[in-house]
Amino acid sequence: MPSAPAQNDIASSNDGLQPRSAFSSRLGFVMAAAGSAVGVGNIWGFPTQVAGHGGAAFILVYLLMVVVLAYPMLVAEMTIGRMAQKNPVAAMGSLSDKPFWKKTGAVVGIAGIVTLSLIISFYAIISGWLLAFMLEPLAKLAGMTGLASWLTSFSTSLNLIAMGAFMAVTIHVVRAGVSNGIERWSKKLMPMMFILLIGLAAYIMTLEGAEQGLLMYLKPDFSHILEPSLLVNAMGQAFFSLSLGVCAIMVYGSYLSEKESLPKTAAMVTALDTSVALLAGLLVIPAMTVAQANGVTIYAPDGTLLESDTLVFTVLPALFNSMGAAGSLVAIAFFALMSIAALTSSISMLEAPVNTVCEQLNSCRSRMSIVIGGAVSVVSAIIILNFEALFGLVVTLTTVYGQPLLALLFGLMLTWVLRRDRLLNELKKGSPDMEQSLFWKIWPWYVKFVCPVLMLFVLLK
Ligand code: PHE
Repeated sequence: MPSAPAQNDIASSNDGLQPRSAFSSRLGFVMAAAGSAVGVGNIWGFPTQVAGHGGAAFILVYLLMVVVLAYPMLVAEMTIGRMAQKNPVAAMGSLSDKPFWKKTGAVVGIAGIVTLSLIISFYAIISGWLLAFMLEPLAKLAGMTGLASWLTSFSTSLNLIAMGAFMAVTIHVVRAGVSNGIERWSKKLMPMMFILLIGLAAYIMTLEGAEQGLLMYLKPDFSHILEPSLLVNAMGQAFFSLSLGVCAIMVYGSYLSEKESLPKTAAMVTALDTSVALLAGLLVIPAMTVAQANGVTIYAPDGTLLESDTLVFTVLPALFNSMGAAGSLVAIAFFALMSIAALTSSISMLEAPVNTVCEQLNSCRSRMSIVIGGAVSVVSAIIILNFEALFGLVVTLTTVYGQPLLALLFGLMLTWVLRRDRLLNELKKGSPDMEQSLFWKIWPWYVKFVCPVLMLFVLLK
C-alpha cells in the first residue's frame, strides 16, 4: 500500500481543505523554538559582549533584560501566531475586525518578514565562515594545504561559495516541511549541540590559563554598569538571542498545539536559550585566556578586547593551532557546534517568509523554499560584494533597531488592538486556570504599559 504523506507536512497552503502544518509534540516545538533562539548570538555574541562589558556585570543586566522585556515579548509573539494559526502577515492582520487595524497589522507583519529576510542574508555569510572553519582542519589533515588556506581566506570566492552551501542546507531542511524537516532536524541537532558545548567547555577548563577567564567571566566589574551602551547592548542581545520581533517565533507559535500552555512553553524556551548562552561563556571566555597564556594576543594596543570577529576567527583558531594534534579535533568540534547552532536558527528564519508566501499565494512549499532561499542568497551575495559598505549597516539596522521596535509593535497590537476576552481565551488553551493566575493579573497590562516605557527608556538613554 502506498504510504500516505505525513499529515503535518501536506499543508503548505491553508485553504481550509488541508490540515495546517504543526509540530507533533511539545518536545518538538521546544527543540525547534530553542533551536531558533540558540545560535551564533548565544555562542559568539553573548560571551564577547560579556568580555567587553564588565564580565558578570553584563550578565546581570542581560538576565534582567531577559526577564523584564524579552520573556514577556516572547509570550506575546507566540500568542499571536498560535491564536491565528496562520502565517505572520495574515496573523497580524487578524487581530481586529476594523479595516484600519487589519491593514496596519499586515504592514507590521510584512516589515517583520522583510527584516527577517535581511537577517538571514547576513547570518548566512557568518554561518558560511563557520562551515569553512569547520572544514579547514579536515583539509589540513588530508594534506590539502591550498584548500585549507582558501577556507580561511575570507576571499570573495570563499564568502560566496560558503554562504551558498549554508543556504543550500537551510533550504533542504525547510523544503521537507514542519514536522518532517524542521522538527526532525531540531530534535537531532539540539542534543548534539548540547553535548559538544558541555564537552568543549569541560575540556577548556582543564587547560592552563582557563582560571583567569573564569574569573573574568564571573567577577562583575561594576564600573561598566553606568555606560549608556550597556543597557542597549544587553537589550539588543536579548532580543536577538530570543529571535524576537521578526516573525520567526510567531510562525513557530502558529504550529504549536492548543493543548500547550503558552507562558510555560515560552519559559522553557527562554530557560534553554539563556542556559546555552551562560554555558557558552564558560567555553569562550576561558578559551580566550588560555589562548593568551599560549602567547596569542587578545587585547588591542589600547587595552580593549579585540573585535569579536577577530576573537572567533583569529584568536580561537590560533589557540587550536597551538594545541598540537588535539587542536584539530577541538577546532572541528568547536566550529561544528557553531554551525549546528547557526543552522537551527537559519531554518526558523527561512520558514517565516516561505510559510507566508505559500499561504498567501497558495503555492507549494518545496518550490517556494528554493525561490525565497535563492532570493535571500542573491541579497547575501550583494552584501558580500559590497561588504564594507553594507554588512555592518544591515546588522545594525535589523538587530539594533528593527528587532526591538517590531517586537514592541507586536506586543502593543496584541494588548491594545485585540479584544481582551479573545486574548484571555487564547491563553486559557493549555492553561485552564489562566484567569485566576498571577500571570494574567500582571502580563497584559505589563506588556501594554510598562514594556513600551522601559524600551523607550533604554533606547533613548
Ligand atoms: N536567535 C538567533 C541567535 O541567537 C538569531 C535569530 C534572530 C534567529 C532572529 C531567528 C530570528 O543566533
